[in-house]
Amino acid sequence: MNIVTVHNLHKTFGKGENAVHALNGIDLSIEKGKFTAIIGSSGSGKTTLLNMIGGLDTPDEGEIIVDGISLSGLKEKELAVFRRSKVGIVYQNFNLVPTLTVRENILFPLSLAGTTPDPVFFSELVELLHLQEKLNAYPHELSGGGQQRTAIARALIARPSILLADEPTGNLDSRSGQNVLGLFKLSVEAYHQTLVMITHNLEIAQMADRVIRMEDGRIRR
Ligand SMILES: Nc1ncnc2c1ncn2[C@@H]1O[C@H](COP(=O)(O)OP(=O)(O)OP(=O)(O)O)[C@@H](O)[C@H]1O
Ligand SMILES: [Mg+2]
Repeated sequence: MNIVTVHNLHKTFGKGENAVHALNGIDLSIEKGKFTAIIGSSGSGKTTLLNMIGGLDTPDEGEIIVDGISLSGLKEKELAVFRRSKVGIVYQNFNLVPTLTVRENILFPLSLAGTTPDPVFFSELVELLHLQEKLNAYPHELSGGGQQRTAIARALIARPSILLADEPTGNLDSRSGQNVLGLFKLSVEAYHQTLVMITHNLEIAQMADRVIRMEDGRIRR
């Protein structure tokens, strides 16, 4: 079953001579429960594509369907609900809230949605990502790896339909990057999550079920 279907996606930034065709007609299906890696040189459109799938940006042309929802049909408010309930995102620079503890950061998406956490799931996730001892710490008190593990827990807590990660180990040294990635994979597999990850690291790409290579705003077949 496909959890994401993208059809004929186009996106241009800027106008006239300065126009950049970031996406040049993307067709893509992503299978539920699989780990898909997106690779390609800088500027090839990877982040633009990921942002579209996550409902963070809108295409000029084309269709995106995530978990049965056609994004082009959504109004801004509905899109916000879509992002909150269906999408988990992990960024290269962690994007944690510095004034909140690890526990509060993880629970932040639920508090925004006004839902209460399932304490059993919360404990499982925290244990899986080795954060038990860190729950009352603030992000700056953690290593980069600890911060990224917190961000992964935050992305998973609402049990999203799809998990998007944009170079999640890009700011980590190779050892802690491998460590974080191993735990990331474990938690994704434990909950049969669908993961789409941009990476420049070919070793990481090799761990994926499928690798998509982008070039000049297109998928290289
Ligand atoms: N908001 C924007 N305004 C103008 N141009 C943009 C914007 N976002 C992306 N672009 C341009 O679109 C192209 C694709 O960018 P994108 O960020 O998707 O590439 P990428 O594959 O993620 O690259 P990297 O590996 O460096 O992160 C680039 O030429 C970039 O400069
Ligand atoms: Mg990028």
